[in-house]
Amino acid sequence: MKIALVGYGKMGHMIEALAKKRGNTIVATIDSYAQDATVKTADPVQIAEAVKQSGAEGVIEFTHPDAVLGNIQSLLPLGKPLVVGTTGWNAHIDKVADWAKQNNCSLFYAANYSIGVNLFYRIIEEASKLISDYDEYDTAVWEAHHAQKVDSPSGTALEIARRIMATNFKKTKIVTDAFHAKPLPNELHVSSTRLGSVPGTHTVYFDSNADTITLTHTARSREGFALGAVRAMEWLFEGIEKGSLSKGQLYTMSDLLQ
Ligand SMILES: NC(=O)c1ccc[n+]([C@@H]2O[C@H](COP(=O)([O-])OP(=O)(O)OC[C@H]3O[C@@H](n4cnc5c(N)ncnc54)[C@H](O)[C@@H]3O)[C@@H](O)[C@H]2O)c1
Repeated sequence: MKIALVGYGKMGHMIEALAKKRGNTIVATIDSYAQDATVKTADPVQIAEAVKQSGAEGVIEFTHPDAVLGNIQSLLPLGKPLVVGTTGWNAHIDKVADWAKQNNCSLFYAANYSIGVNLFYRIIEEASKLISDYDEYDTAVWEAHHAQKVDSPSGTALEIARRIMATNFKKTKIVTDAFHAKPLPNELHVSSTRLGSVPGTHTVYFDSNADTITLTHTARSREGFALGAVRAMEWLFEGIEKGSLSKGQLYTMSDLLQ
């Protein structure tokens, strides 16, 4: 399919490479700053116009939290399936779902496009459900990332924690700070390490007096995110073409991985 990229930074470049490898064509690369972009603008109206001119059949957006809502608002009226990877706008998700409905245009959003991480979420849910029947097991989450990361804990660690709490009702509170007293049984500790260049690592511990079960996901590169975004684009486009997916809907990874 023909894809326009809005945002041609680290993710945009990797998405271009993987999309081409899978037989797609990149018809426009639009960025406010990147020297090698085919169109240089940060104006959402001009971005939409450039997408229209390119003949793209779908759009992938990986820019900046400050730009994403304006871009979505400007791109939806084009009616082209839109995959958004930019994070940091979760508070506006209901409003954006309404925009998609009003414009009869479908949108896909995931805070984490890695297929492996999304499968890991499901593995954790199953494990947590099983283990929650056994009072002797306690649970904790630990994550490590490279020292360039500015936030902690990672959004992925918090999502893992939410899924643990949804499947183990004994855990009702996430604690991300250090403890200065014994943890209470309902507290789920989510701890973080920032170190050198380590790749994103997420571990869940289920611990009893007798043993520990550890489940770990380790990312090797950004490739997993980029591949997931391209697959989401292809899935959304084909689903709408074939009529198995609806126009005007907001989809996410749990829909794709059914
Ligand atoms: N959902 C996921 O799985 C996932 C994975 C990785 C990154 N991300 C998110 O994707 C976003 C981009 O990540 P990145 O690593 O490519 O960042 P990056 O800084 O390398 O690239 C962002 C690009 O967007 C451009 N840009 C910024 N504002 C713009 C605007 N108004 N109009 C057009 N272009 C604009 C910048 O010039 C830059 O080239 C971030 O929000 C990041 O958190 C999401």
